[in-house]
Amino acid sequence: MEKKIVYSAVQPTGNLTIGNYVGAIRNWVTMQNEYDCFFAIADMHAITVRQEPAELRRRTLELAALYLACGIDPAACALYVQSHVSAHAELAWVLNTLTYVGEAARMTQFKDKSAKHADNINMGLMDYPVLMAADILLYQAEYVPVGADQKQHVELSRDLAIRFNHRYGETFKVPEPLIMKGGAKIASLQEPTKKMSKSDENPNASVYLSDDRDTVIRKFKRAVTDSDNCVRALPDKPGITNLLNIYCAFSGSSLEEAEKAFEGKGYGEFKLAVGEVVADKLAPVQAEQKRLLAEKQFLSETLSSGAERAFRAARKTLSKVYRKVGFYRGE
Ligand code: TYM
Repeated sequence: MEKKIVYSAVQPTGNLTIGNYVGAIRNWVTMQNEYDCFFAIADMHAITVRQEPAELRRRTLELAALYLACGIDPAACALYVQSHVSAHAELAWVLNTLTYVGEAARMTQFKDKSAKHADNINMGLMDYPVLMAADILLYQAEYVPVGADQKQHVELSRDLAIRFNHRYGETFKVPEPLIMKGGAKIASLQEPTKKMSKSDENPNASVYLSDDRDTVIRKFKRAVTDSDNCVRALPDKPGITNLLNIYCAFSGSSLEEAEKAFEGKGYGEFKLAVGEVVADKLAPVQAEQKRLLAEKQFLSETLSSGAERAFRAARKTLSKVYRKVGFYRGE
């Protein structure tokens, strides 16, 4: 039987956080053998906010090395750079003609990013979710493993798939977001009701995958909590709940086990334990990423064979779409 298809991507912008790892990349690794996976580096999405070109290039390669260091196996899945497969932009154009301006303007991330980059509310920013739909639909993906913040975008992809199929006949698989419990929304360490973000201006709010051990431990020590010294995941304790989620995601223990392990223990001890478990996990990933970054030839070859594999799959969908919408394809 053919394997089901999984698609996901991360933008090569800013410093990746443990939120990106827990919400996305970590789950990809567990899926790569069971599914036919396409994992991209979304550089075309990245330029919807201003990027320094040399930095974007450097971060693209760093992200490829990071995927591999986290355990993505390029033999098992297509690991590639989005801009290497032009079908993404081509399908996005067709999907644009099915997307209503009002629906794109209602997207939460568009509104947030417009507020944050008020001097650069460009068409690309508004079109971001349509390009994302093109990414997903090109590969006929069944599942899209993402963090909770991307749910609305995957829902738009579903709507566009259904709309296209309705208008032109069955063409796209209707994808489903796959949002893991616990790690779906890792919160800021400084404002635990907000998501941890790579673009947060306060460096203590986010733990970056590149942070060294001392920095990781210091950031957790300074994490905002409450004052009742009880390590339980409760709705009125967003700070401690977030730390427990992080602890569980990195140690593999269940919430119940973690709450039990820290019963009667103070926040100081708990925060140190969270910092240690995270730092222990990050150290080998960082070392492997560094080793891979020295292997430029290998990285470049891996990405080009990933792109070829992606292109073969994407081309099939795109030509079907072009036929369905009535583009003349020759006799
Ligand atoms: P990006 O780079 O902003 O985020 C990458 C992934 O990390 C998840 N994430 C989080 N998960 C849990 N807690 C957090 N604090 C947290 N912060 C980020 C995001 O949900 C995402 O899964 N638009 C996508 C990139 C993309 C894409 C796609 C994803 C482009 N095309 C097609 C899926 C399918 C994004 O948010 O990237």
